[in-house]
Amino acid sequence: MLIAVCTATGLLGTSLAGPAPAMAIGPLPACRYDDILTQPRAYSQWARTLVDTILSVPKDYVPPDLTSVGQAGLAGSFQVRAVMIPDLTNLAAAAKAAGNPIGVQSAYRSYVSQQAVFAYWVSISGYRLARLYSARPGHSEHQLGLAIDFKTADGGTPWTGTDWGDSPAGSWLRAHAWQYGFIQSYPKGKQSVTCYSYESWHFRYVGRAEAALIHASGVTLREYLWAHFTTAEVPPPTAATPSPGPSAAPSASPSEPPTEAPTLEPSPAEPTPTATGADPTEPPASAPPSAPAGVWLGLDATSAALVAALAVAIVMLVLSVTLSRRSRRAR
Ligand code: DAL
Ligand code: ZN
Repeated sequence: MLIAVCTATGLLGTSLAGPAPAMAIGPLPACRYDDILTQPRAYSQWARTLVDTILSVPKDYVPPDLTSVGQAGLAGSFQVRAVMIPDLTNLAAAAKAAGNPIGVQSAYRSYVSQQAVFAYWVSISGYRLARLYSARPGHSEHQLGLAIDFKTADGGTPWTGTDWGDSPAGSWLRAHAWQYGFIQSYPKGKQSVTCYSYESWHFRYVGRAEAALIHASGVTLREYLWAHFTTAEVPPPTAATPSPGPSAAPSASPSEPPTEAPTLEPSPAEPTPTATGADPTEPPASAPPSAPAGVWLGLDATSAALVAALAVAIVMLVLSVTLSRRSRRAR
């Protein structure tokens, strides 16, 4: 146990500016899909709550202090937890003063909204691919009321076209968001530890103190929260739990997207934060990640290799029969 705690804490290196309790029960779990209730998850423990592809909050997790981003001077009827309003106000004002005004593309999403969003992306990319960029219901930081998908003020969806992280607003945010308590949850090149593909627009509020520590540590939000605060027990994967069970899969793929978006790109129209309304947000950063052909056919790597070998053998057999017939005819 002691060794496990030391290992997890060691992930953070020695550059942390201040002490934080080490709570993790073991080393950071490798990326996989499961449905284990996260701990801590009290509404008062908002800064320390980790959700990822393994850890989740329940369906009835609805932050008690949701309020409009309008309170921070931002446009749209999106909601966030009131705890972030002072810092969000300052972040938005600083971005504007720097000549890079920001807007909000998406913020709080209920469990039901996330269900619709995830089902929409499954209908576009398929289940295996969609879960690399869209959280299964219960697993999204948006349900915490602490995640915001930013965009350039008056700009289009941040995932359309070139990397929004390289735009003036996107790069300003990447450099300065931590000073206002926001951390980019899924940075570039970190998919092996965040378990999601790069999202330049998605930021999680943790408050200025934790954000400064995370920034100084150089680790991702998932690594930091796991090592310092997460007490949920995550058993090692067994043969029965390498991937989500049937309950984790969407019950149905909608024939219509959750809003009016007719194509892969979500509608730039503002989503309505109602119980059932959901914006089909969070597409892949550019093209969906590529998957081996066998995976698209629903085969695992071994089966795909066997099928490929069989195909080659059949082709060679046909060729040799054809050639031997030709040579017989020639004789
Ligand atoms: N796109 C992130 C993973 C979400 O759906 O919360
Ligand atoms: Zn997001």
